[in-house]
Amino acid sequence: MTEVITTPTSTTSPDVAAAAAQFLAPVVVELQALAVNGKQAHWHVRGANFIGVHELLDTVVDHAQEYADTAAERVVALGLPIDARIGTVAAKTGAAEMPAGFQKSDATITTIIAQIDVALTVVNKAVAELGEIDPTSQDVAIEIARGLDKDRWFLFAHVAA
Ligand SMILES: [Fe+2]
Repeated sequence: MTEVITTPTSTTSPDVAAAAAQFLAPVVVELQALAVNGKQAHWHVRGANFIGVHELLDTVVDHAQEYADTAAERVVALGLPIDARIGTVAAKTGAAEMPAGFQKSDATITTIIAQIDVALTVVNKAVAELGEIDPTSQDVAIEIARGLDKDRWFLFAHVAA
């Protein structure tokens, strides 16, 4: 006899879960894209401040992966799946295609800042919209926004006048 599990998936209502996922799913996509493109940048940066930029890009990648995990697991904790398959990420990201091959450090930094800004657009939208829907999911988005803002500053400081 098959045992029927009666424990609910989540205490959050399905409508709230779906609404939260609607704003967190794009966040996961953009952070996964940032992680992949950040590694590409880490491997191909050349020129001024090489070692600092090379290492900082790895920190940006680590944070992107960590934040993607936090956002994805919030959706899963609410009882819904997340689609972060490579084809989905490639199809849905709003980030521009990375230039192929080696790049000078200033160009690399501005490219990755632009990628962070694409991610911040969906993260900030999640912050703005989730307060009314699910404050716990909004808290996830706020934490990610704070972290991305800081990584953006660390990169920007290399190219600022
Ligand atoms: Fe490395």
